[in-house]
Amino acid sequence: MNESADDVKKIFREKFNSEPRLFYSPGRINLIGEHIDYNDGFVMPAAINKGIFFAIALNNSEKINFHSIDFDESISLSLSEVKKMDSWKNYVLGIVDEFKKLNLPVQGFDCVFGGNIPIGGGMSSSAALEGGVSFGLNSLCNFQMDRKQLALLGQRAEHNFPNVKCGIMDQYANMMGKENTVILLDCKNVTNEYIPLNIEGYEIVLINTKVHHSLAASQYNQRRKECEKGMEILKKELHVVSFRDIKSAEELLPYKEQMGDEVYRRCLFVVEEILRTKKAGQLLKQNDTTRFGKLMFQTHYGLKNLYEVSCAELDYLVDAAEKNPDVIGSRLMGGGFGGCTINIVKEEGVDKFLSEVLPAYKKKYNIDAENYKVKIVDGTCEILNTGEK
Ligand code: GLA
Repeated sequence: MNESADDVKKIFREKFNSEPRLFYSPGRINLIGEHIDYNDGFVMPAAINKGIFFAIALNNSEKINFHSIDFDESISLSLSEVKKMDSWKNYVLGIVDEFKKLNLPVQGFDCVFGGNIPIGGGMSSSAALEGGVSFGLNSLCNFQMDRKQLALLGQRAEHNFPNVKCGIMDQYANMMGKENTVILLDCKNVTNEYIPLNIEGYEIVLINTKVHHSLAASQYNQRRKECEKGMEILKKELHVVSFRDIKSAEELLPYKEQMGDEVYRRCLFVVEEILRTKKAGQLLKQNDTTRFGKLMFQTHYGLKNLYEVSCAELDYLVDAAEKNPDVIGSRLMGGGFGGCTINIVKEEGVDKFLSEVLPAYKKKYNIDAENYKVKIVDGTCEILNTGEK
């Protein structure tokens, strides 16, 4: 789980006896705007220095060969045999399948990958897998697709092979990330603004609950359906076309009965989270980190109480963060039901925070939570010089 570019290259040479090209495909954080990418909202992700390294080369055959270092598993099949399988294989094969659907002349290739992004940690190891394969193949086969097209292709792959009806956030962040900058992504128009992240004196710290409740994928698709159901009613009653057209939570109230309590609460969260994320964008531009952090807590409580995608372990970590004066914002990050919390912590308070919260979590759940101080980096790229001969 900690391979470097050089390790991946070395294993590739041993397995395939040829010279690969190397790529880095990052995981992502999301500062605010959760579960609203598939609801026409705005989100605020960034690519991070946890990711996956890929070594890829064409092999002048009809075969594709993948080896995952972390799973210690390989697959080998003909291009014409690409089909759904399970776990990591669905993400990489889903990409090949999407290129084929575009009638692009995919050639046989060999690929070895491994990295340091915790699987199930909510940092989107799936989009990192998709992005590495799509960017690498696009370069090697010279398809000339741009980054945005590759992000959209990755999203389609995830819908069609692993069957998770995800929004565009993860794939977009993976392709479009920029160092020290967050992406304010308009998910309806699939366009973005870059906002420099000026948070001197603060660290972004992720705490991994190390739990990943199996509900995650099914509940994800379920939330999406609930929101669609609510939107149908709002379209009819309010003549709006999207959640972003609703300017206040009060506008929803008259439709509570018609929607039913559950759908109403999902829609309420979505409307509030869209407004919160827009506000958060303004605060970030004003360098008002303290008020930004308060919005993160509000997001967490919305995800917990209205959208119901949290779990006891995540709530425990956010509660502990809220009690610590050095933590100015904390919330669950990503799809929920486990994975990480994202915390903005005063630099001088990081060690104290971690030395209190980690043992307390261990005592309560008997789990050694991990923590990562992450940096914001560029999106998927080719590594041209690893410094190795
Ligand atoms: C997952 C999905 C994203 C997004 C988040 C929740 O990471 O892949 O599209 O919906 O959950 O914000």
